[in-house]
Amino acid sequence: MRLVVHPGAVVQGRARVPGDKSIAHRWLILAATARGRSRVLQVPPSLDVRSTAACMAAVVPEARPGLDAWALNVARGAHSDGFTWGTAGDVGSTSEVEVESHGRGSLGRPGSVLDCGNSGTTMRLLSGLLAAAPFSATLTGDESLRRRPMDRVAQPLRAMGATIETTDGHAPVTVRGGLLRGISYHAPMPSAQLKSAILLAGCDADGLTEVIEAAATRDHTERALEALGGPVVRSPGRVAVSRFQHEGFDAAVPGDVSSAAFLAGAAAVTGGEIEVLDVGLNPSRTGFLEVLQRMGVAVETFERRTELGEPVGDLIVHGPSRLRATSVSADELPLVIDEVPLLAAVAAHASGDTWFAGAGELRVKESDRLTGTVSALRAIGSHAGAEGEDLVVAGGGVRGGTTSSAGDHRMAMATAVAGLAADGDVVVEDADATDISFPGFADVLRAAGAHVETS
Ligand code: S3P
Repeated sequence: MRLVVHPGAVVQGRARVPGDKSIAHRWLILAATARGRSRVLQVPPSLDVRSTAACMAAVVPEARPGLDAWALNVARGAHSDGFTWGTAGDVGSTSEVEVESHGRGSLGRPGSVLDCGNSGTTMRLLSGLLAAAPFSATLTGDESLRRRPMDRVAQPLRAMGATIETTDGHAPVTVRGGLLRGISYHAPMPSAQLKSAILLAGCDADGLTEVIEAAATRDHTERALEALGGPVVRSPGRVAVSRFQHEGFDAAVPGDVSSAAFLAGAAAVTGGEIEVLDVGLNPSRTGFLEVLQRMGVAVETFERRTELGEPVGDLIVHGPSRLRATSVSADELPLVIDEVPLLAAVAAHASGDTWFAGAGELRVKESDRLTGTVSALRAIGSHAGAEGEDLVVAGGGVRGGTTSSAGDHRMAMATAVAGLAADGDVVVEDADATDISFPGFADVLRAAGAHVETS
């Protein structure tokens, strides 16, 4: 599919976005390994989340009927009422997953290789979960995932007592679970997937398992474990857990604030106003709003409730008549890691140079997003460069042009947003990738007044 963006429209309105993919992975894993019945509502139909559901169905036979029933609904397209434009109240029951389990003891050897698709979160979190399970399982994924580093997870899990074989540091990865002991681990890079893999393994290890981070990363795993009554100890830069079996729970996945970011970016570059309802407002994910504010964007958030430790509410973003350049420090970067392509697209419309310092982790995302952002912005008539691990975007506008997402969902959506205020059309090839995290992206933009065509 190609996305053709005709500039000129002001993007405005009220929206819901599909449920948060990062949170949904974790809650599905926790639901399938809880003792008792769990109901997870508003599970997004995103392809990555479907990968986690399929893998969990393969390793927890008891949870399979519930996970398969949801997957069938999603495959039938029944998920379309899971996110609607406007003030829709009820998001329907088709996005609900209900599972029964007897806890982690229900984990069983899968009948075949576990396919994690495009999802790094699925592969890394499952490696941690399976590290204590008494069988061996092999995890693989698509071409992009098989290029991404897995040693970062294998090393600490081996130190805890699991046997992990990678393929030259990559997937396929074979995890042979064992009796685990807690470790104290200084994470060598800021990664919530790494932290979460260790914490999930730590829930089934002897003694204390501790992760020390030099820079804060998203904290969905520790929030959920804490909300489930787990022995989680947190202080700035440090989180520890010990053996713990949680009970079943009910929770509704908040809208994905990283998807809302594209709508916020659309309002920012077109001088429009967007309200996103029922979205996750966890501060470890909303860093991009602070960056947008520094660029002159007006932002308001209204926290309404908490779901399994996650703050949820509404978000209003109002684009300014002129955007200013800003800089993002290396400490701040992990908290906006998934929004850098989008922020770069917005920065292309600002006046002055915007710097993103210490953005090296972008090279090992679904694609090399450091190089990809530079080449996409250049291809659509803007100026950007990489200096070592830093990304620099020269403002001044976007002329228009054609680029490819290279199969990366966030690259596709970021480039489309850049096009909304370009001088000429922006064409994004290979744009089906948006389904990885934001099925319906083009429809939602269109409903907000954008001139976007798909062909
Ligand atoms: C995620 C963590 C981040 C992020 C990814 C989702 C998670 O990856 O980029 O989209 O759900 O834990 P890293 O842990 O590799 O930084």
